[in-house]
Amino acid sequence: MDRGSGKHGLAAGVAARPSRPDWTIDQGWSNYTAEEHATWRTLFERQTALLPGRACEAFVQGMRALPIDAARIPDFRALSEVLRARTGWQVVAVPGLVPDEVFFEHLANRRFPAGHFIRRPHELDYLEEPDVFHDVFGHVPMLMHPAIADYLQAYGEGGLRAQRLGRLPMLARVYWTTIEFGLVREAGGLRLYGAGIASSRTETVFALDDDSPHRVAFDLPRVMRTRYRIDDFQEIYFVVRDLAELLELARIDFAPLYEQVAAQPELAPGELDPADTLLHRGSGRYHRERAARG
Ligand SMILES: [Fe+2]
Repeated sequence: MDRGSGKHGLAAGVAARPSRPDWTIDQGWSNYTAEEHATWRTLFERQTALLPGRACEAFVQGMRALPIDAARIPDFRALSEVLRARTGWQVVAVPGLVPDEVFFEHLANRRFPAGHFIRRPHELDYLEEPDVFHDVFGHVPMLMHPAIADYLQAYGEGGLRAQRLGRLPMLARVYWTTIEFGLVREAGGLRLYGAGIASSRTETVFALDDDSPHRVAFDLPRVMRTRYRIDDFQEIYFVVRDLAELLELARIDFAPLYEQVAAQPELAPGELDPADTLLHRGSGRYHRERAARG
């Protein structure tokens, strides 16, 4: 599965520091090889086939309006032109994971840092660092939606504050359960909007179709108490009522919440809380079997 960038930051191990202080590099679009474009095509085609009835409307619309197709790895300049006109965002190339403060600074200024490299053909279903497929296919369509555009900018600003307060792990959980692994209610049922799901063939099916994981209504303090898995499918997916709920999050002052939440016990990745609004009680089969295999 595609682990995405929930572990942006130095702790995750970052690439060698590039010469620009904001860690951006040129995408070097003309340097992509035919094999790399072919990898993009494989990923694009198999993921696109899965998304009808599973991706939320905003994702579908965003994808449709952007210069993204199967034929080649997208050019960040062309993406940015369309994004800038719609929501004021742009995509900038980085060599891989960047330090937290660099990541937040970019988001706070409506720049989405995207890995410029693409995974190797033998690692189509698993990679440690976010590549161009995860970052562009998974994240960029949602940046076309005004609620996500504002929410992600607020997250960048909040990240810089959380870092000063020593509360980054709590904030990172909010990012993880929304931007990376979030589900949203729509008229037809639950749909994905999180990039970690949208860019992963196996997790798209697991998050939406499998009986195993719990699906729980998103609740901010609850999510801030909840540890998450970075090395496997999630045991709980959190569901927002609509994307406007994220816009409400963008307006909340997290500082008093950090204190309140820190006074309560943490929850393990698959642990339900009595106060949860449970949309689907998972069987837990997948993680139980994984644990049994050791
Ligand atoms: Fe990501």
